Amino acid sequence: MSRSPGLRKQIILSFSVMALGILLLSIVGTYVFYALASTYLPDSISETWVPSRIELTWILGIIVAAMILAGYVAIRLSRRIITPLNSVAHNLREVAQGNLQARATLDEHAQGETAQLVRDFNTMAERLQSVTREREFWNAAVAHELRTPVTILRGRLQGLAEGVFTPSSEMFIGLLRQVEGLGRLIEDLRVLSLTESGHLELDLAPTNLAQEISVVVHAFASSLQARGFNLQLEVGEQTQVMCDAFRIRQALMALLENALKHAEPGVLRLSAEVSNGICQVSVEDNGPGITPDIAVQVFEAFRRGDPSRSRSSGGSGLGLAVVKAIAEAHGGQAVCRPSDSGGTAFVLRWPIRD
Ligand SMILES: Nc1ncnc2c1ncn2[C@@H]1O[C@H](COP(=O)(O)OP(=O)(O)OP(=O)(O)O)[C@@H](O)[C@H]1O
Ligand SMILES: [Mg+2]
Repeated sequence: MSRSPGLRKQIILSFSVMALGILLLSIVGTYVFYALASTYLPDSISETWVPSRIELTWILGIIVAAMILAGYVAIRLSRRIITPLNSVAHNLREVAQGNLQARATLDEHAQGETAQLVRDFNTMAERLQSVTREREFWNAAVAHELRTPVTILRGRLQGLAEGVFTPSSEMFIGLLRQVEGLGRLIEDLRVLSLTESGHLELDLAPTNLAQEISVVVHAFASSLQARGFNLQLEVGEQTQVMCDAFRIRQALMALLENALKHAEPGVLRLSAEVSNGICQVSVEDNGPGITPDIAVQVFEAFRRGDPSRSRSSGGSGLGLAVVKAIAEAHGGQAVCRPSDSGGTAFVLRWPIRD
């Protein structure tokens, strides 16, 4: 990027050129004037302090020329400074009144700090607009995700109250599932909003990772088996790590839930190892895998992969956003990459602090 001269430099330069121009005009011009006048019209030169007519015309001419030069310099400077400033001020008022599409125009005369001001203003307006858009999308998505289970609950409870449905334990188990789903949704939203505001606090403690993994695996064993998954557990020797056990379990559960919902039955590898001060937990499935273009956005809240498949599985698209939030709260990261067996590997890694 070519850096244009700063405003201070421009002002100094403009005023110096103007002063020099006026001085040259009066000194050199007067020399020339008297040289010509004394040669061709010697009688026109006044002998007293009162100027002759022609001298008076020359003085007036010089004043007008100096004023034109000063006016030209002032117009050039104001074009560079005042015009972009006016544009920023006008559009700032528009933004303050809620029109987030307002952008200041960067004309070719704007240079240095004023051009930078216009660019910064436009970047700020752009960010403000995208944050607002994101917020609107977020609110609509939350309302949408809450509406479905609440509508189902309401319908079933109304049916029960009016005697349309006969109370049965299956009915209540179904209702309980909906309430559990709602509870999970609310917890996911809570983790994400705490993360966004920087208030997701971890309860870090020395943890036996192998033990935590076995608790999660135990909870999922029967559903994994029922769906035809063959779980392979590979846990390294060193499993004493510093982490928030509850949050790591929560992340691991989201990954296993995803395997249940989105992966094809087959071998499911769950591995954990500590090396070079980094703890790494990964869940690898057999397929169908995630295409690279979708892989970059699966960690964003409310983003689902293949819409047809995800719709049928009924997820909210929050699970991986929570996994990422938990990894980042531990100072680590969550990544998704193709697995060796043609499926997807989700890796959760964080540095272990002693
Ligand atoms: N193991 C996997 N194999 C293939 N696709 C996956 C896998 N895990 C996640 N995905 C894709 O990534 C998307 C985002 O996953 P995420 O866990 O964030 O949401 P979800 O499972 O749809 O909903 P939720 O977890 O909130 O119930 C899923 O919709 C799915 O398309
Ligand atoms: Mg999920």
